[in-house]
Amino acid sequence: MSDTASPHAYVHLTAGGVSVVLDVTGGRLPAIVHWGAALGDLNVADTLALAQANIEPPAGNVVDLPVRLSILPEHHTGWVGKPGIAGHRDGVDWSPLFTTTALTVDGAEHRPSPDAELVSAGAGTVRVTAHDAVADLGLTLDVELLPSGLLRARAEVTNTGSSFYVLDGLQLAFPVPPQAREILDFAGRWGKERTPQRRELTVGIHEREGRKGRTGPDAATVLSVGVPGFGFGRGEVWGTHVGFSGNHRHYAERLFTGFQVVGGGELLLPGEIRLSDGESYGTPWIYGAYGDGLDAQAHRFHDHLRSRPTHPRRARPVTINVWEAVYFDHDLARLTDLADRAAKLGVERYVLDDGWFRYRRNDLAGLGDWHVDETVWPNGLHPIIDHVRSLGMEFGLWFEPEMINLDSDLAREHPEWVMATGGRTPVPSRNQQVLNLGIPEAYDHILERMSAILGEYDIAYIKWDHNRDLIDAGTAPHGRAGVHDQTLATYRLMDELKRRFPGLEIESCSSGGARVDLGILERTDRVWVSDCIDPLERQQMNRWTMQLLPPELLGSHIASGTSHTTGRYHRLSFRAGTALYGHLGIEWDLATATDDENAQLAVWIDLYKRHRELLHTGTMVRADEFDPTLLVYGAVAGDRAEALFFLAYVGRSDVSPRGRFTLPGLDPDRRYRVRPVFAGEPDEGLKPPAWFNVPPQPQPTVTTPPGGGRADGLSAGSEVPGVSMTGRALAVVGLQTPASFPDDVVVLSVTEET
Ligand code: DGJ
Repeated sequence: MSDTASPHAYVHLTAGGVSVVLDVTGGRLPAIVHWGAALGDLNVADTLALAQANIEPPAGNVVDLPVRLSILPEHHTGWVGKPGIAGHRDGVDWSPLFTTTALTVDGAEHRPSPDAELVSAGAGTVRVTAHDAVADLGLTLDVELLPSGLLRARAEVTNTGSSFYVLDGLQLAFPVPPQAREILDFAGRWGKERTPQRRELTVGIHEREGRKGRTGPDAATVLSVGVPGFGFGRGEVWGTHVGFSGNHRHYAERLFTGFQVVGGGELLLPGEIRLSDGESYGTPWIYGAYGDGLDAQAHRFHDHLRSRPTHPRRARPVTINVWEAVYFDHDLARLTDLADRAAKLGVERYVLDDGWFRYRRNDLAGLGDWHVDETVWPNGLHPIIDHVRSLGMEFGLWFEPEMINLDSDLAREHPEWVMATGGRTPVPSRNQQVLNLGIPEAYDHILERMSAILGEYDIAYIKWDHNRDLIDAGTAPHGRAGVHDQTLATYRLMDELKRRFPGLEIESCSSGGARVDLGILERTDRVWVSDCIDPLERQQMNRWTMQLLPPELLGSHIASGTSHTTGRYHRLSFRAGTALYGHLGIEWDLATATDDENAQLAVWIDLYKRHRELLHTGTMVRADEFDPTLLVYGAVAGDRAEALFFLAYVGRSDVSPRGRFTLPGLDPDRRYRVRPVFAGEPDEGLKPPAWFNVPPQPQPTVTTPPGGGRADGLSAGSEVPGVSMTGRALAVVGLQTPASFPDDVVVLSVTEET
């Protein structure tokens, strides 16, 4: 029974095979009673029983009342893990006790009642408001279960007192059941983003702080805790993702009581948030992704992103980006020739990278001077853009709006716009500094410059770069920490440009893939996964970036044979076969490609165009590895009538032959034909297994076939019958793995037989 005017209810949200049961009783902040597999219909008695079953028994030498963990963990309850709020008012009001004042579910206010009630919804939004009259703080908590089964929550705290409230942190936490004892999150560095790492969740805190002022190549990205041994297709996992592009933290914590949470929020620098009377601070969305297996977890993110009205829906255009082709060597004749060659292959978008603006002949100067360089482009960008457009391609342009070179007119005119603290210039990185977009005049200047360029030229797409960490990123005049304001200003700038230029697409690039998060994805349409385009590396980076993003958002290019970042050489079939499962592009000086390579590229581009709808709307599946040198993954159409699978040979196996692989995700009761697709020449090491059913070839009279062709007759464009099997047999029994040279991809088309 509740004797206050506070809400007194349980809320059951269920969608996409997930249930979230919230306890909003007795004037207390919402606590999650259950987050995980759907529980079916619940009545009030069921919910009360669930809540009761969740109360911990007394233990030795702890507080005398059961500790109740709310989404904003509260220290006053006896919770001795990381608290949800860290802050104070000149040393006091640091341990708030909030009392709830209102509860709304899907916008409808729930009226307080003496007996706890149950509010049931499918996907839905819960808002709880609360107040601490002693600490003079107001609080709003939003908890949402999205139709994909993805959970997300955010908090806003308001200073209702008359003195400053200094907020040091505001983070949210979701409980994780005790059987989840293994952590998976991501690390990484430039050129090798999102490398998975696993460890046991032991007592203590596993905390990943992002202090780079950008998401970072090493961001935790999705921090999951699961049943030990969880894989793509099996094992429950509970993960969290902070949808923010500035400083942030993700953590998993296990207490001495065995209680476990995953959580996160923005990481606030000292003094960054000082709330005066009536001022508020809001967290970004903190996501909770449950799944039985990592694929199921990833599908919740993918389905959510794909359901957004702003999700790019038109066919993802084949792109050429000129960076690795010309770097800073901007020459109209060369760039025009590149456009001609690209258009001939079927490329649909041409992106002019770094180097087009004043003083930008290398990476020492020019950032901030967003005027077309008159020395290199005497007639502006019109000649190249007109040419690109006349070839039927869209035009895209590179910007790095948040940065400034000290060697620029802008820095000479406004040295006070450079972020700094302590009366000194921050350590340079890539010879550049950070432009303080938190200063309204600096923000207005950049908005005006970018609008002028976008207004003058026919530009469909911005490659938006961000090439350094924010170190000593203070804001004028006193050098107070300014990362929070800078991050929000960037968001505003993107939003405003999209408002001014409807249809404009933006790629989030940051020294490659250092800005991949759902905050930036609210206003961008693609990410550049990594500056490393070596397919062996990209097999891993693309695979794991897809834990958060669907393939259509991943910039995935075919580069020159020798990788510019690793120096390794790879066959075109490996480079193109790897790039195919993403938003395809080319990043290669086509003038140096042979006629044969150009011809094969055209076939790969055609293959991409024929399958991009399937690849970009289908369900991603990744088979659990039985041999680390073979990756099996693909896209299964929503109606499961077709699929495209990839066998990526990323090393030499210690056994030969490898044995069978399976194809998960198909309809067990339907029959499918599986056959290889040869876009380019099959690698010489490919030994067709019996199930390819390659038609018998006339026996050559000499050992080497005339013309040096293959004895089995396979070549680019070969069509072989393949094999017909049920989805069940393909998932349970599988097929013998074709033998192949390492570092190659075999593409398999799977079509339903009726
Ligand atoms: C870093 C990006 O990741 C590259 O693709 C390229 O745009 C360079 N910056 C340009 O400076």
